[in-house]
Amino acid sequence: MERVVGEEVFMVPAKDGRYFGTRMSHDRRQFLKLGSLGAVALVTACSSGDADAPAEQPTIGAGKGPLVLSTWRHGMAANDKAWTVLQAGGSVLDAVEQGVAVVESDLTNRSVGLGGNPDRDGRVTLDACIQDHEGRAGAVAFVQRFEHPVSIARAIMERTPHVMLVGAGAEQWAAQNGFTPRDVEIPEVRQAWLEWLKTSDYKPIVNVENHDTIGMVAMDAQGRLAGSCTTSGMAYKIHGRVGDSPIIGAGLFVDGEVGAATATGVGELMIRTAASHTVVELMRQGRTATEACREAVQRILRKVPDTSNMQVGLLAIRKDGDHGGWSHYKGFDRAVYDKTGARMEICGFERAAHGGRAGFADPTSTPVHL
Ligand code: GLY
Repeated sequence: MERVVGEEVFMVPAKDGRYFGTRMSHDRRQFLKLGSLGAVALVTACSSGDADAPAEQPTIGAGKGPLVLSTWRHGMAANDKAWTVLQAGGSVLDAVEQGVAVVESDLTNRSVGLGGNPDRDGRVTLDACIQDHEGRAGAVAFVQRFEHPVSIARAIMERTPHVMLVGAGAEQWAAQNGFTPRDVEIPEVRQAWLEWLKTSDYKPIVNVENHDTIGMVAMDAQGRLAGSCTTSGMAYKIHGRVGDSPIIGAGLFVDGEVGAATATGVGELMIRTAASHTVVELMRQGRTATEACREAVQRILRKVPDTSNMQVGLLAIRKDGDHGGWSHYKGFDRAVYDKTGARMEICGFERAAHGGRAGFADPTSTPVHL
């Protein structure tokens, strides 16, 4: 049974324990209606100088998708899958889920999925989230033994009234909702962990894995946006540590009116600054995707006292099709798939890894000099 409060429909449990409901105020028709009303209101407000008018621009441009963007080179395989899903008529939400799932299944990947490096207790714990055009979100954190945390995150979004489940509760819910636990033992990973135990030296090293986390943001041909983010987190982290990847606003943020952003690197920095949300808000204020990512990186560097040797990489799609990325240290790149094909693009950066000056290395964007 649905209970309506204002414009929202809240989800309430059915007899079989699942939840049903939807947000009435954000279905596509309503979104389009609000979008055109918002545009009219903006024009009216600008011409009449209405003091009560909203200060910010409600929408940006029209989509020029399809477009898929992912962090690091492992994003190429993920983008291929996402593109195939879009070409076959799948939704952009299907695309970002199935895209990153390819990397989750790759047991040679040491920063995503069950092949990832373990925590300091030798356990692989996974974090993921997903968000759609209307801002609906699902997330899962600190889960073990499930191959596709991103799919659990989507199921949480679609079948429960909640956004995030963690740990044993998330595992229990997943097992009860059609996900099958899987045990993976990788001798090479175990051996590396045993070696690490000899010193237990916990220092993130810039780009050492060179593919930390996969974050994906995508837009379909109609301009609808979605994003996903999934990771095994930092190698040898404290058992129970959760990074930015499952935190909506930190590792991922999607606003269907403006754009989408995702993050990679030392998650604590993105959580402390709501980094992906910051990028989207900066794009709302008129920054290009590259400018927004750069300003968000610079804000992290200003706000957090010691970020030396900590990588941060942000990438974003703006609703008009502009896209870009920026990082703290040199070496962050993004996989791009658009109508012209698939490629890697190097992102701009603030510092070379060994103490160089901030630089620009993004041939697709406007250079910004310090
Ligand atoms: N960015 C991934 C993590 O910090 O866990």
